[in-house]
Amino acid sequence: MKYTAFLKTLLFSCVFFISYSNFSQNRNVITLKDNWKFFKGDNENAYKIDFNADKWQTVSVPHDWAIYGPFDKEIDKQVVKIEQNNEKEATEKTGRTGALPFIGTGWYRKTFSVTDLTADKKALLVFDGAMSNAQVYINGTLVGGRPYGYSYFYFDITEYLNKNADNVLAVKLHNDPFSSRWYPGAGLYRKVQLIVKDKISFDQWGHFITTPYVSDSLARVHITSKASGKNLTVKTRIKDAEGHVVAEISSNTQFGKSFELDIPVKNPTLWDTENPYLYTAEISLYEGESLKDIENVTFGIRSITYTRDGFMLNGKITKFKGVCLHHDLGPLGTAINTAALRRQLTILKDLGCNAIRSSHNMPSIEQLELCDEMGFLFLAESFDEWQKPKVENGYNKYFAEWAEKDVVNLVRATRNHPCIVMYSSGNEVPDQWGNEGVKRAKWLQDIFHREDPTRPVTVGMDQVKAVMESGFGALLDVPGLNYRVHLYEEAYDKFPQGFLLGSETASTVSSRGVYKFPVEKGYGKTYPDYQSSSYDLEYCNWSNIPEDDFVLQDDKPWVIGEFVWTGFDYLGEPTPYDDFWPSRSSYFGINDLAGLPKDRYYLYRSRWNTKDTTLHILPHWNWEGREGEVTPVFVYTSYDSAELFVNGKSQGIRTKNKNSKLERYRLMWNDVTYEPGTLKVVALDANGNPVEEKEVKTAGKPHHLVLNPDRKELTANGEDISFVEVTVVDKNGIPCPTAQNQLNFKVNGAAEYRAACNGDATSLEMFHEPTMKVFNGKLVVLVKSGTTIGNATLTVRGKGLKKATLNLSVVE
Ligand code: GAL
Repeated sequence: MKYTAFLKTLLFSCVFFISYSNFSQNRNVITLKDNWKFFKGDNENAYKIDFNADKWQTVSVPHDWAIYGPFDKEIDKQVVKIEQNNEKEATEKTGRTGALPFIGTGWYRKTFSVTDLTADKKALLVFDGAMSNAQVYINGTLVGGRPYGYSYFYFDITEYLNKNADNVLAVKLHNDPFSSRWYPGAGLYRKVQLIVKDKISFDQWGHFITTPYVSDSLARVHITSKASGKNLTVKTRIKDAEGHVVAEISSNTQFGKSFELDIPVKNPTLWDTENPYLYTAEISLYEGESLKDIENVTFGIRSITYTRDGFMLNGKITKFKGVCLHHDLGPLGTAINTAALRRQLTILKDLGCNAIRSSHNMPSIEQLELCDEMGFLFLAESFDEWQKPKVENGYNKYFAEWAEKDVVNLVRATRNHPCIVMYSSGNEVPDQWGNEGVKRAKWLQDIFHREDPTRPVTVGMDQVKAVMESGFGALLDVPGLNYRVHLYEEAYDKFPQGFLLGSETASTVSSRGVYKFPVEKGYGKTYPDYQSSSYDLEYCNWSNIPEDDFVLQDDKPWVIGEFVWTGFDYLGEPTPYDDFWPSRSSYFGINDLAGLPKDRYYLYRSRWNTKDTTLHILPHWNWEGREGEVTPVFVYTSYDSAELFVNGKSQGIRTKNKNSKLERYRLMWNDVTYEPGTLKVVALDANGNPVEEKEVKTAGKPHHLVLNPDRKELTANGEDISFVEVTVVDKNGIPCPTAQNQLNFKVNGAAEYRAACNGDATSLEMFHEPTMKVFNGKLVVLVKSGTTIGNATLTVRGKGLKKATLNLSVVE
């Protein structure tokens, strides 16, 4: 790098403080992270260049203005009849969108300088999503807008910028009431980047890497790169994961704007879920001899095919063992955080899950990068509504004008991620009814195909009878069924594709650590404490228990997999307590809102995780007052057979039974009489020999706390997070499963307290306050790194409990 360029870089980094800058001589990518000014409310002058925002709050982006609450029953209260849920009358729904203050207008302002914008350069401003109805101003002039909060978008802002002087970026966002069915969050909740590059450079999202031929000995890597200009050459080097160049090619043939490069890669290492091997294409653009642009694009070499035998990854049949995820990160709200996303995926890996569906919108780029790196298949969805509304101010208002633009950006921004194996153009859209909807389904699918001919398109369909008749289901690449297990056979018979996907399954409800008696299967069950039972037999009138899907997944080879609703609890949609208060987050999760596993975790794990054994007992064994009463015991296990003991007395052996839907997947002792002490399960092998055992013990009084962090070392980037599981235990260290102690948190040193979450859907305590009640003996504390290295200590106190401390280190 020349000395002057070096000086400019230095200056640039200083101006942007600790904003992350990825600088090459030709392309400077700056993440606008710190020192934003934020104001909740409207101000007609806030877009102006000389507006004084000194009194506004200083925030860093990603930022969710609504997650700091308070929870309020009146926020976005919807008096509606939810037709998808088969409701016949309108009722008052509180908490449907999380009861957090996301509605209204918010403004963000940021001052920045661009010192390297010479006459031959241009500048783009890129948003990964902004919630919602963004209006973007540079130096007082409106540059453009984007209504859909989940869409990626960018503007060329060159002509609006003051060269070598301060510039003011102002973003107005506005969220309407009745615009969502879940908590959408609010604000600049995903990253914002400024890209300064040569005028002769690659288009934004201008590369498309595919691997049309894949074998063990050779892969054909095809790269389309777009750029405008004359006398241009594209040179591409493929590097393996260690950075060694494995292939190299160049071309100066331009098909309009496109360069088409075909690169043979010998003995490729294929990307799959077990070994997510990534290559990088270093793509350079030259005008004559002069280098104009370089981009590094990560990709994987893999083949995907959908056949009557199932979905194949690199020629191997691979069932989707997937979960649906909403985009909020529980106590962090919707503000994207890589550590939180990584933790979610780490938990899902242990579960044996291999696929994610971003319901019902575009995923964050960070989530896709992690799925590439950690080996998850990805179903990237776009919309929850088309032209016909589900909620009054939903996407229906924008569909006609924006749907094509939103789909184009979805595909162009994400298509080089090997994890994406399917796109979805919609979820349970009411357009499933009527001929117009069939046309819309085809129109959208054609746009996806035009932008990316390599990936199929699905729609999550719940109106299965209607789509069988209308042709809607038949025209899709992949027919996706949401629930409706009783219609799978008929749909398979009527649809031409020869396979079906469980695009959304189960919707079983439960609260972590809560068990209701008598133990009975049923839908729409409610209780005075607004919790659902973790015996995993409660569901909704449109949905089912996990086993209803398991039998289809196991017995029908033409069912290519499932995406369970949902992997984690999320803010909003507190079914079956939609019209009860307080209740503000879901009960559907396999894990709770804090990321702690519910019992259901082990039911799925016993099927999905084929590497490790699973042996899990429920319920807990602290039933003061139930002495002598029947207290059923279930075991979720990868073993076929086990014997249960209460205080050493055998309760008999249970063996999985193929002829009964429940007993095929759960071992159940329905007539155990409760007495305090020890519940022990001993797993047996095929010869009846004990192979593994687990115990659950009756705990005494809460005595002290155990702190268990997911990571003890954090990076000093001001955003890394350690998730510390806090468990209340008795004097012998036995977890107290009914403890509800109020705890207080303090962090000293190189990190700070960020939030806590206990997974209780009825709690109105705010996540960012340094105090919270444990829910059934547990909660999670989030400790965030600062920007300097050093040690940090978390201290947790609770009345009558011995205080606990945890040391963490913050490193470079
Ligand atoms: C589905 C819908 C999801 C969620 C779920 C709850 O019908 O697609 O968004 O509402 O029901 O069971």
